Formats: sequence, C-alpha cells, structure tokens
Amino acid sequence: MVTTATGTEPAPGPPDPAARADGAPVRLTDPALWSTPGLPQTIDALRALAPVHRTETEDDGPVWSVLTYELSAQVLRDTRRYSSEGGSLLGTGTGRPAGAGRMMALCDPPRHRQLRAPATPFFSPGGVRGAARTIDELAGTLVREALRRGEVDLVDLVSALPLEVMCDLLDVPDGDRPLVVRVCDAAFLGRTPEERRGGHQQLIPYLMHQVMRRRADPGDDLISAMAQYRAGGRLLPVEDVVLNLDNIVVGGVQTVRHTAAMSLLALIRDPALWRHLTDGAAEVGAAVDELLRWTSVGLHTLRTVTEETELGGRRLAPGDRVVPWIWAANRDPGVFERPHEIDFARSPNRHLALGLGAHYCIGAPLAKAELGALFTAVLRHTSRVELTGEPKYNGSIINFGLDACPVRLTPR
Ligand code: HEM
Repeated sequence: MVTTATGTEPAPGPPDPAARADGAPVRLTDPALWSTPGLPQTIDALRALAPVHRTETEDDGPVWSVLTYELSAQVLRDTRRYSSEGGSLLGTGTGRPAGAGRMMALCDPPRHRQLRAPATPFFSPGGVRGAARTIDELAGTLVREALRRGEVDLVDLVSALPLEVMCDLLDVPDGDRPLVVRVCDAAFLGRTPEERRGGHQQLIPYLMHQVMRRRADPGDDLISAMAQYRAGGRLLPVEDVVLNLDNIVVGGVQTVRHTAAMSLLALIRDPALWRHLTDGAAEVGAAVDELLRWTSVGLHTLRTVTEETELGGRRLAPGDRVVPWIWAANRDPGVFERPHEIDFARSPNRHLALGLGAHYCIGAPLAKAELGALFTAVLRHTSRVELTGEPKYNGSIINFGLDACPVRLTPR
C-alpha cells in the first residue's frame, strides 16, 4: 500500500517529505514498517504533511488513512457517518464481510447495542474484579513456572494467561480445556497460516456445540446468556451467537498476548522504567495504560463512509473507506507530550488503544486486569529478565506483536 500526500493523485514532482530516508514511499500496510527503528519519525513526517492521506492498498482498494488523534476520534465516535458494516479491519477485501450486521464488531447501532447487551455484564469492572484474584494467582503461577525453567520464550509465558481466562469466561468444562487451549493455541500461535486456519476451523464447531447445549440447558455463564438472549423478542440465530463468541475469543486472546509481550520487552530494554515500577515510583495501573498507548498493537481500525462528508480537508463520498491508524493517533504530539516516550506519570492518558465510542473494547477491564497481573507477577518474582536472542516480530498490521522473544529470568 502506497500513501501519497496529494489526495487522489500520486505524488508528482519534488520528493515527498514523508518519504523514508532511503527515498522510498511510505507503505502503511507493510508490516515491516512497524518494526523499523525510524517508524516514529516516518509517521510524524507523514502526519505533519497532512492528517488524512489517500492510500492505495492491495486487498482493500484505495482508503483514507487518518493519522491524527482528533480526526481518528471523530471517526470512531460517529457511527452514523462511519459504519462498521463494511468491515473493521484491513485485509478483508472490498466486499461486505461475512458477519456484517450480525457480529458486534461489524454492526452499527441500534443492532450493535442488541448484540453487545447480553455480553456486557460479564465484562463490567465489577464482574472482572470478581475474577481478579484468579487472574493474579494464575499470572503468579505462570511466572514461577517460567523461573523454574530459567530460559523461556516471553511470548509463550504471557500467552497462557489470556487463554485460561478465556476458558473461565466461557465456562469451558474442565474435561474440554486441553482441547480448547490446543485449538486456540493452533488458531492464534500456529506457525503457518494452514495451522492457524485449522485451529480456527475446530474452534467454530466447538462453540456451536456449546451454544446448542446451553440453549437447551442454560447456566449463568457468558455462552448461556448469549444463547438465551432475545433481541426484539426473538432468540439470536445460533450462528450469530457463535460469530459473536468468536469475536470475543479473537478479540481477547491475541491482543492481550501481544500487548503483554511488547510491553515487557520495552521494560527489559529500559531498566529505568523497570526500576520505576519496582521502587513504587509508578503505579502498575498507570503503567498498563501507558503501555497500552505506547504499544497500540491494534494498529488500525476501518470504517465505511455512509454519506458525503469532509474529514481533515478531504471530501469523502459514500462507500469510501477510512482507516484511523490508532498507533499514529496515540503518538500525536498535539495530544500527547513527548509521545514516543513511555511516561508512567502521563495524565490524562486518553489513548485510543482500546477504541472509542460504541465499539470501545468490551474486554477493556479484563485486558487491564490481565496486563496488570502479568506485570505485577514478573516484577514481584524476578530480579532480572534479559534477552537471550533477537525478538522476532509477527508481521501483522492487525495485531502487531512478537512471534518469539527468548529471555532468561533470574529469581528475586
Ligand atoms: C490489550 C488488549 C486489547 C486491545 C488492545 C483491544 C483493542 C480493541 C479495540 C481497538 C477495539 C475497537 C475496534 C473498533 O473500533 O473497530 C476493540 C473492540 C473489541 N474487543 Fe478488544 N482489545 C483488547 C482486549 C480484549 C479482550 C480481553 C476482549 C474479550 C475478552 C476483547 C473483545 C473485544 C470485542 C468483542 C470488541 C468489539 C466490541 C464492539 O464492537 O462493540 N478485547 N478491542
């Protein structure tokens, strides 16, 4: 995908000031861009050139890339002008995605509210507080186990927590847990696209079976609540319940894993930050928010324009697609002082890492509880974590993160 500064025409004439030092045009959908050392300067230069750029993509046709905080927030808040029903992520093509109008991430109000309602109580801060003790204990166990082994992959260490928490949330019967963990592992951690697709193909029938079972014999868990929920007096079709559960599983496993691993890598690389947390100068809660902002692993979202409108000086037509780059919005110097630095004292910290408006991440309290538990456990039980090899980035612009990060842990 090539981003041009001049709107509908490719940039002619003088060199584009947003071009990288090597003179190449900026390719926002190139996963390699997001792990290059010059990324902050590249995005800053592009944003300074214009807040909204027309961008050619291979899979999704031309889109409008939004790079400032205010305009990204404007798009995310306005579900009437900017619809989620044409897709919420790049890479899914130009047609209407499967699940549009049936899955909460791909739905506009008022249908969106109906789909979100049965799940909401399970993610309220109160609901999550109840689970927090289990989450803390689990995080402690995982870190102690890793310490026993000494040398581990940081990604493996953090991956188990969101998977186990997801099994709790779905009330997966004990006997099924190894299967669900294995299938999710393959779906999310599989080394090849085939392995990941295979894992996913097993997850869907499993969820379908659970929905049917709990429709007949409901409990007080999330699957039962969604299976029994009546929207406008009618039960949701089983397929739609499954789609929304899948949305939750996908939303809740990858994101936490990548944010946790990327955040811990940042702490490993900057001992001063680590010290701030261990000597109590910074609070873990504030650190979680700042690391969510700084990592912004959900690099972008996507919306489709429903009526003629203007955004950042560009005329947008119905059907145009708009991409708020969350990473860029969260590094906007107009809103965040020294945006590329990690500052645990940053306040206010109104980052967009968990979205904004109607589609604000339903799992936000849970995500923060999991990240806080992992950071606390690592800080409490280890005196040192050091890299033993080069981190390997995953090359995804959907959930940017690490595939591998070998480390050695020293006990406290
Ligand atoms: C660090 C962790 C997380 C990050 C960075 C993250 C990020 C986001 C973002 C940016 C959105 C808004 C997308 C949009 O506007 O199109 C979102 C929505 C969503 N997230 Fe998360 N998320 C995280 C954790 C979780 C967890 C733990 C769960 C569930 C267990 C979850 C489930 C969802 C769902 C279902 C939606 C769609 C909500 C809707 O459309 O109403 N997420 N997330």
